[in-house]
Amino acid sequence: MNETSAQRDKKLPPKVSGAKADMGHMEEFSANFGRFMMRANAECGELAEFNMAGQETVLMSGPEAQEAFLKTLDNKLSRAASYQATVPVFGKGVIFDAPPERMKAQLKIQVNALRYQNMKNYTAVINQEVEDWVADWGDEGELDFLDEFIQLTLHTATHCLLGADFRNQLTDEFKSLYHDLEAGLQAIAFVDPYMQQPVFEARDKALIRLQELISEIITERRKNSDKEYGDALETFMAGSYSDGSLLSDNEITGLVIATMFAGHHTSSGTATWILTELARHPNYSDEIVTELQTVFKDDGTITLESLREMPKLEAFIEEVLRLHPPLVLLMRKVMEDIDFKGTLIETGKTVAISTYGSHRNPDYFPDPETFNPARDKPDNLYAFIPFGGGPHKCAGNAFALMQLKAIISVLLPRYTFELVDPPETYQDDMSAMVLKPTGPCRLRYKKRQ
Ligand code: HEM
Repeated sequence: MNETSAQRDKKLPPKVSGAKADMGHMEEFSANFGRFMMRANAECGELAEFNMAGQETVLMSGPEAQEAFLKTLDNKLSRAASYQATVPVFGKGVIFDAPPERMKAQLKIQVNALRYQNMKNYTAVINQEVEDWVADWGDEGELDFLDEFIQLTLHTATHCLLGADFRNQLTDEFKSLYHDLEAGLQAIAFVDPYMQQPVFEARDKALIRLQELISEIITERRKNSDKEYGDALETFMAGSYSDGSLLSDNEITGLVIATMFAGHHTSSGTATWILTELARHPNYSDEIVTELQTVFKDDGTITLESLREMPKLEAFIEEVLRLHPPLVLLMRKVMEDIDFKGTLIETGKTVAISTYGSHRNPDYFPDPETFNPARDKPDNLYAFIPFGGGPHKCAGNAFALMQLKAIISVLLPRYTFELVDPPETYQDDMSAMVLKPTGPCRLRYKKRQ
């Protein structure tokens, strides 16, 4: 049987109803992607094809389909082809713009920056940053915690990545460059990141200037090569390809940007949701305070080890990540036809899985909309996937959990938190690329007696 007739005989994924002539399901998807993906799954089952302004996209739902998606390697399901919008943000030749072998080597160097010895340094850095942040809080007050956590995690990220000197001189210029790069990754960039648009011009200028700034630090550090920094930049500068050559300054800058982008809003949004859910659930909050007091009873120092002994806080964070997974949709481009249970997904299509939808599947999470940190974890590893899974599982998983626990370990034993606005106004922003609460996210804090 030749290829064409094999394809003709195979079943194709069912199509989701309601596509508009020109933009397909784009409008419905953009208005509330969570609701749209759950509708697609309910209507079509494990495979549901929808249309994003011409791009045929197959949503793969349920643990088996999600496992198949996450375990398939880049040569068949390519992340690079789906994430081309990141190329002008990270720079030429970096990660998704690098040939496969170089991309693999760069990701390995990135992971190396998150190894045990560095993580110990990062724990101390984060603890210090949180202490500095709360130092002038006084006995009580009110803050927009979304905004606060965006600032805090920008400080912790630059400190851990680029070192204390850079963090201490963190300039408005850096913040504005970073802002311009972020603005360059809005939804339209996934259609064509090179179209003539003021946001893209600003993005390109920002990248050039950031490359200059980081090159200056690299040159300075190469002059003092015996000094140890314990930050990610040190690891990136020491990393090499299989032929022994070092990364160029622009590749190093790209890794710094890529790591910031992977970790910044995912962490700030999650931290905001954790504190908001703690404010909503004072009974859990009290249990966690008791747990933290036990962990820190002898010595209040927060270490990587002490942060590993917090099952209640960990379960609480996991429940937050279940209901509010920052990366709601993971995507790949199909490079070779794939067969899923006898259905053909053809080359050229996009495939996607939805963490948001998976975490609301009542077969695995009974009464899914109820926030319940005591719920049993599903046996199937591919039902709960806030950090993805398989070979490309989040490289910053341990860092993210360490940072979130360190923040709560400082805040919660000292302060109680309450919602300022009516409870129903604290919602997920269903239009953001990385899920976060709709701002402002105002909470009132009071010193514990
Ligand atoms: C709550 C926080 C975070 C969540 C929920 C999260 C989630 C994820 C997910 C779902 C993926 C897989 C993407 C895919 O398969 O397409 C991923 C990949 C990745 N994440 Fe995270 N992330 C978080 C924080 C971080 C942090 C703090 C860092 C860095 C310090 C980081 C670094 C990375 C990297 C480098 C990858 C790519 C791994 C690879 O391709 O091999 N993440 N993350």
